[in-house]
Amino acid sequence: MYIINNVRLQVFDVETAMLIITYMTTIVDDVFHRIIEHDFGISEFTANMKRIKWLLEDNELEKEKFGQGNFNNIQGVIEFKNVNFKYNNTETEALHNINFKIKDNSKTAIIGMSGGGKSTIFKLLLKQYDNYKGKILIDNKDIRNFNEKSLRKAITIVNQEPILFNMSIKENLLMVNSKATINDIKRACKLANIDEFIESLPNKYDEIIEENTTNISVGQKQRIAIARAILKDTPIILFDEVTSALDKRSKKEIEKTIEELSKTKTVIVIAHTLDSIKNYDKILVIKEGKLIEEGNNKELLDSKGFYYALTNL
Ligand SMILES: Nc1ncnc2c1ncn2[C@@H]1O[C@H](COP(=O)(O)OP(=O)(O)OP(=O)(O)O)[C@@H](O)[C@H]1O
Ligand SMILES: [Mg+2]
Repeated sequence: MYIINNVRLQVFDVETAMLIITYMTTIVDDVFHRIIEHDFGISEFTANMKRIKWLLEDNELEKEKFGQGNFNNIQGVIEFKNVNFKYNNTETEALHNINFKIKDNSKTAIIGMSGGGKSTIFKLLLKQYDNYKGKILIDNKDIRNFNEKSLRKAITIVNQEPILFNMSIKENLLMVNSKATINDIKRACKLANIDEFIESLPNKYDEIIEENTTNISVGQKQRIAIARAILKDTPIILFDEVTSALDKRSKKEIEKTIEELSKTKTVIVIAHTLDSIKNYDKILVIKEGKLIEEGNNKELLDSKGFYYALTNL
């Protein structure tokens, strides 16, 4: 969980706020990777920081990475066609010939060993990297054609380490949807199973989130971040191992939220345990950059492959 201190955003519009959140998460992730696995290359990090500064100063966004297409009313059908991808600073492919199709209003889980390429699939969908081969389609449209606004309006991600800002809960939520009414906010928080808790705080929705706040747990902050994603109301919502650091009760609460959301959205979850995904419409098993199995729980158990072996560990 990252609490960004001393950030007072002047612009509270959806695209800018989500971009900041997305980019800050990427930076943290990328910097960790470089420190752990590679020489620490400062150039990309600096480039990203420059972009955030631009955004905070309300400058025009870089457009070159995005297409011109303005797409609304996205249903949320997702397709990867022969996708191959290698990070610039590495020798081996992080994703190798990935093909799958996901229906709208469905629940999909991506599972597999650490380093397999699960989060990379999300990063490509979010267009954090565009130097991949093959095609990624949303509603049968190549995401290379989406302009930035259309893509941000189509997809939201909730990460394991969501970023909250050092301001009130309400302000944190309004960042992604400045037009939301208190009823909209409460509806999102109820769906994220966090409204009751917020109402029990001394200052309720005006409670300030701080790094060393002891009256809000990691699980509760996680659910505030989920409420923020719900409030953004995109047709596609991605969860990257959001429950892995949580206690059983918080996990159950978030699983209920995911279940509810999948009735009206395309939900993709990177899961680290198998017990919560048994009733999912589709499970993708990723190993060393390859999609090795695909199906629902029953189909995968019947095929007695890798998934079956995992359930018997
Ligand atoms: N920014 C990066 N730069 C270089 N290599 C990277 C970067 N991010 C990921 N990788 C590498 O790409 C491969 C796939 O990583 P990815 O994060 O997608 O795996 P994952 O399945 O999400 O793993 P985990 O379960 O540990 O989160 C790994 O070998 C990883 O080291
Ligand atoms: Mg990952």
